[in-house]
Amino acid sequence: MDIYQVGGAVRDAMLGLPVTDRDYVVVGATVDAMLAQGFQPVGRDFPVFLHPQTHDEYALARTERKTAPGYTGFVVHADPSVSLEQDLLRRDFTVNAMARAADGSLVDPWGGQADLQARVFRHVSPAFTEDPLRILRGARFLARFTDFRLADETLQLMREMVQAGEVDHLVPERVWQEIARGLMAERPSRMLSVLRDCGALARIAPEIDRLFGVRQNPCHHPEIDAGWHTLLVVDQAARAGASLEVRFAALTHDLGKAVSEPPDHTGHELLGDAPLRSLCERLKVPAVCRDLARLTVRWHGEMHAVSRLSAEDKVRLLENLDAFRRPERLEGVLAAGLADVRGRPGHETDAYPQAVCWRNALRLAMSVDAGGVAKRFSGQDIANRIHVARVAAVSAG
Ligand code: CTP
Repeated sequence: MDIYQVGGAVRDAMLGLPVTDRDYVVVGATVDAMLAQGFQPVGRDFPVFLHPQTHDEYALARTERKTAPGYTGFVVHADPSVSLEQDLLRRDFTVNAMARAADGSLVDPWGGQADLQARVFRHVSPAFTEDPLRILRGARFLARFTDFRLADETLQLMREMVQAGEVDHLVPERVWQEIARGLMAERPSRMLSVLRDCGALARIAPEIDRLFGVRQNPCHHPEIDAGWHTLLVVDQAARAGASLEVRFAALTHDLGKAVSEPPDHTGHELLGDAPLRSLCERLKVPAVCRDLARLTVRWHGEMHAVSRLSAEDKVRLLENLDAFRRPERLEGVLAAGLADVRGRPGHETDAYPQAVCWRNALRLAMSVDAGGVAKRFSGQDIANRIHVARVAAVSAG
């Protein structure tokens, strides 16, 4: 049997990037031969094994044939006669379809090296269409490799796949996994833009797609378009090195603008809850991301407008965030607020003095000895007494 390193590890090493995950393809072997050498089988459907010592992934060279729409519609064909070239041909992008032999030589039958130099993601063959998840992979690769572009013919193929209904069959967990990885990359806007260009965004996240073409007030938003603003905001969150929760909150903070009245969108914070819920349910967004996004959608207007709020309003809002028990919630909403403010042309380095006011308000409110209040006033009134004491502390501060 012959063993080659394949996929992202070959690509990343050629780009001079650190390599963490290593994948290998094994040519000329059978399942029994792998088991006899101590490899551990993983997964029910694919002939993939873990190396007994390194735990790297080793897959038998294989071809796949489409049987049904969507991600699980595969019949895998792996036998010792499948060549390395055949295996590489059915991979997603040419830059991912190179192999490195044990002697260090590069096997590059499909032009991966040339595309790597030209910084292009190009599909290897029509077999690309067998796996619609590749649309999302391509999109998140663009967010990570910011100097790469998508080949025109690959974008065209993605459009055809979307039109054929291919993305409608993707499993939500897999979609979320790719979106989350793209959000955590350097320029998440590049993922969202290409998903929009090929029509996939309208299928997997219509709530976000609908923001494009929505007018905002040019006095506050020189970019005018609410979709464009959203792209700038997620990139600002990424630039700040924000967590996934904050980046998702940045992505969704203005969903209400698709249904509120342009250009001022009064009340869009309340209207954003319904589209956020439907997006989170469709993609099975994890609760931590959903919860911070809900708070950000609902309260970002008030967070910005802190100077106009009374002490009473501030304490109520902090209670709504549950910030007394979970101060990290306030920090999350503030981080999304900063990205919101900076996600406008000409405002990229704006300060966010509101953050100082909110932290100050929380500190003052938390200086109240809630236990002491509880001891002094027994009965149902305690919560209200604590609230009143907190308002007094914020007022006095
Ligand atoms: N692959 C593919 N189609 C997919 C998933 C994977 O063709 N839907 C192939 C590609 O050759 C890819 C390799 O399997 O390079 C390994 O996949 P994976 O580890 O998921 O991705 P990487 O390309 O290594 O990218 P990353 O560094 O982001 O993990």
